[in-house]
Parts: sequence; structure tokens; C-alpha cells
Amino acid sequence: MALLRRRLKLVVTVTMVNFFIFIIISRHGSQDKNGRHKVLIPSKPFWTKLAPSSAYWNRQQQILDIKKNPILMTNYSTTDVMPDWLNDTNLTSDPCRPDFRVTTQVKDYNSLPTRFKDFLLYMRCRSYPIMIDQPDICKDPPFLLLAVKSLAPHFDRRQAIRQSWGRAGVTANQTVVTIFLLGNATAGDHHPDLSEMLHYESNLHKDIIQWDYRDSFFNLTVKEVLFLEWIQTRCPGARFIFKGDDDVFVNTYRILDFLKSLSVPKARDLFVGDVITNAGPHRDKRVKYFIPESMYTGSYPPYAGGGGYLYSGDIATRLHNASQHVALYPIDDVYTGMCMRKIGLAPEKHKGFRTFNIEEKYRSNPCAYKSLMLVHPRTPQEIIKIWDWLSSPDLNCQ
Ligand SMILES: *[C@@H]1O[C@H](CO)[C@@H](O)[C@H](O)[C@H]1NC(C)=O
Ligand SMILES: *[C@@H]1O[C@H](CO)[C@@H](O)[C@H](O)[C@H]1NC(C)=O
Ligand SMILES: *[C@@H]1O[C@H](CO)[C@@H](O)[C@H](O)[C@H]1NC(C)=O
Ligand SMILES: *[C@@H]1O[C@H](CO)[C@@H](O)[C@H](O)[C@H]1NC(C)=O
Ligand SMILES: *[C@@H]1O[C@H](CO)[C@@H](O)[C@H](O)[C@H]1NC(C)=O
Ligand SMILES: *[C@@H]1O[C@H](CO)[C@@H](O)[C@H](O)[C@H]1NC(C)=O
Ligand SMILES: *[C@@H]1O[C@H](CO)[C@@H](O)[C@H](O)[C@H]1NC(C)=O
Repeated sequence: MALLRRRLKLVVTVTMVNFFIFIIISRHGSQDKNGRHKVLIPSKPFWTKLAPSSAYWNRQQQILDIKKNPILMTNYSTTDVMPDWLNDTNLTSDPCRPDFRVTTQVKDYNSLPTRFKDFLLYMRCRSYPIMIDQPDICKDPPFLLLAVKSLAPHFDRRQAIRQSWGRAGVTANQTVVTIFLLGNATAGDHHPDLSEMLHYESNLHKDIIQWDYRDSFFNLTVKEVLFLEWIQTRCPGARFIFKGDDDVFVNTYRILDFLKSLSVPKARDLFVGDVITNAGPHRDKRVKYFIPESMYTGSYPPYAGGGGYLYSGDIATRLHNASQHVALYPIDDVYTGMCMRKIGLAPEKHKGFRTFNIEEKYRSNPCAYKSLMLVHPRTPQEIIKIWDWLSSPDLNCQ
């Protein structure tokens, strides 16, 4: 009897709620002054014809967005004539040949510094041959993959990391794998030929990944894209990934504790670092991060400073997909921020990531590093010294 009454109560409540929703919806329907219903017709077309951006990157992104939009593309192949700026008939040509059209498509191409010309000519190329690989490094899928951006001549930095925070193997009961990501230090840039030493190092430690492209600052985005591809083929089982520079101290203990403490949904969407918000391109030619207006307009999405950030294997898969829909940008951490925006997520700031260092007075205090995850910059010697501090059983911090 009580059950029946409760059922009845429930039915009445649901009906009442539905009734109120009905009233709310009908009152919201548009009515003119006389109370008659009328259909809303937008005064302008639902979406306007897309005008090309004046900046080259933005324009390339517009083209990508349209090419990947099936509705717009079907229309272009049936009714509409594709405007010239969109009709990239050469899109099917080899994207890794220099694209000399940029010399006229970028307004001030001739007056730009050489690194921009180099970047623009190869902006559409995303695949380079791998020269040194470690195909079996993730045979046992690691809990944490530490991927360090390095340059061929930085032997000492890599060795310091191997002897400290990058110590591969089993740390704190979790598997950690360390790899170094390299391009080619080319003779064209007057680098001495270190290839034999690199092969020796690689055979000894089996932790070098090297691709055959020119390892320059503006090509760090190429490194990012190649690495995202590499994860999918060589290390898809990695639970978490740290990616950072070779001049940072990383408190691997702290990172593992942090990762183990995460709830499942939090872990799935994890992307933390030293996040920079409300930034935009530098317009001062003397700054390393200078970007001319002919190249990019608009602000930057939130992005984590490239010194080092931490994300989930799940995010790596989504970033890999998203990166195929985002035009290459010469600053790698901004590029990753753009890919995150494409996924619909924002990187999260964590105060344990100190890409702008810590206050001078704390730098030689071992306890200052205990609760941090990353500090930049540190020399190889400092890296080893700090690691020894943190690994000491005598370390006593309140
Ligand atoms: C598709 O083409 C028709 C005919 O030209 C045009 O009216 C319509 O706006 C186009 N649709 C889109 C989504 O551009
Ligand atoms: C693009 O341009 C080429 C050459 O001008 C032309 O043959 C082709 O039909 C155009 N494609 C579209 C989809 O408008
Ligand atoms: C297409 O590319 C080829 C070689 O890459 C070049 O010679 C040709 O001028 C390009 N065509 C257009 C329309 O830009
Ligand atoms: C590792 O795991 C073993 C067994 O589960 C446990 O006894 C030991 O305390 C763990 N060590 C650490 C450092 O967590
Ligand atoms: C990369 O280095 C190898 C040998 O070190 C050299 O033969 C090759 O030309 C370089 N590649 C590029 C793109 O410079
Ligand atoms: C990036 O690498 C490619 C391939 O080695 C090279 O042609 C290009 O000039 C490089 N770009 C920059 C900005 O160094
Ligand atoms: C890949 O990315 C595109 C565009 O961002 C999105 O529409 C698509 O659903 C994604 N695919 C997967 C498998 O995540």
C-alpha cells in the first residue's frame, strides 16, 4: 500500500515538473506585441563567407579547418566555387619540398630573419625519417615516460639526467622509462660531426631517439609532432608522460607521488605545468620569441611552458589526433597549447613547476626542492647535487 502511494506521488511530481517546463518553454517562444507567435528569421546569412586572414599562419589554419570540414568541402565540390586563396591545388604535392609560394604569400617575407624563411618553406612538412630508434623500449608499458628534448652535443646534460632524475628502471615501485629526443645537428649549421659519438652513446644507453631534420629552435614543433607520432607507435601503453628540456631538475619522486594520488577522471585528462595565460606573440624583433604580424594575429591559448609539463597517455593520443588539424607554429609550447584548445581542454597550472626558477635565497636549500616537481634552469652538476640531496636518507625537512 505504502509502495503504491509512493509511486503515485512520484507520478504526480513528474507530471507537475513536466507541466512547468512546458509553461516555461511556451513563454519563452518568441511573440510579437500582439502575442502572436512568429518564426525567427536571421536577418543575415547564418554564416558569412570566410574572409582570408592577413596573417599567414591564421590563413593556413583556416584552410586546414575547411579541408577537414566535410560539409563545407562537399559544397565546394558541387555548388560553390572555391575562392583562390582556399584553392590550394598544390596541397596534394609533396609537403616536404620547400613551398616557395610563401615568398609571395607572406607580405614581408624578404625582410624576415632567416629562421622565419626556413620555417615557412618547410611549414607543411611533418614527417622526417627516424635515424635512431628504440623500438622495444616500452615492451613493458611504463607508468611514467620521461621524454627529454636534447641536442646532439649535450652529452653531459643527458648523462647528468641518467645519473639523477631520469634513472630508468623501477623507482618507487613504478616503472619509469627515460628517452632523449634529438634532431640532426647538421654540418650546414657548422656543427662538428658527432654522429659516431652519438651512436656509441645510443648503443651504450639505448635511450636515444633521433630524427633526420635540422635541430633548431623553430623546429622544436617538428620534434613535438614526431614525438606524438612516436608515442602512438612505440609507447602507446605509457600511463603518463613528462616532456621537458635537458636543463631542468625534475623531482621524479614528487611526480610519482602526485600521479599516484590522482583520481581516475582527473588522471585521464591530466595536463599540468607552468601555465601561461593571456599571452600573445612578441612584436619586438630583438626577442627570441618574436613573431611578425604577417605571420600570426590574435592571442595565444593557455599553454604550459616548454621547460617541462606532465600529461596522461590518453591526452597524448588526443594531442596526436589534434596536431594533424593544427598548422605548425614556430614556438613548440604555444603549439601544444593550440592542440589542447583543439581538444577542448586547457592545461592546468601547478605551482610545483618552476620554469622561471625559485627565489635565489632558497636555491641551495635541499628542502626547497622536496615539494617541487620541476625547477629550471639547472646545470648538469647542480642536477646531480640536488638529486643527491633528495635521495639522502638523512634529509629531514619539516
Ligand atoms: C552552399 O552553396 C549554396 C549555393 O551556392 C549556398 O547558398 C550555401 O550558403 C552554401 N553553404 C555553405 C555551408 O557554404
Ligand atoms: C582550383 O583551381 C584549379 C586551377 O585554377 C581548378 O582547376 C580547380 O577546379 C579549382 N578547384 C576548386 C575546388 O575550385
Ligand atoms: C605547385 O608546385 C610546383 C612544384 O612544387 C610548382 O612548380 C608550381 O608552380 C606550383 N603551382 C602553383 C599553382 O603554385
Ligand atoms: C614496493 O612494493 C612492495 C610490495 O608491494 C612494498 O613492500 C614496498 O614497501 C614498496 N616500496 C615502495 C618504495 O613503495
Ligand atoms: C644528418 O646527419 C647525417 C650524418 O650525421 C648527415 O649525413 C645528414 O645529411 C644530416 N641530415 C640533414 C638533414 O642535414
Ligand atoms: C627544419 O628542418 C628542416 C629539415 O631538416 C629544414 O629544412 C628546415 O630549414 C628547418 N627549419 C628551421 C626553422 O630550422
Ligand atoms: C580528431 O580530431 C578531430 C578534430 O579536432 C575531431 O573532429 C575528431 O573527432 C578526433 N578524432 C578522434 C578519434 O579523437
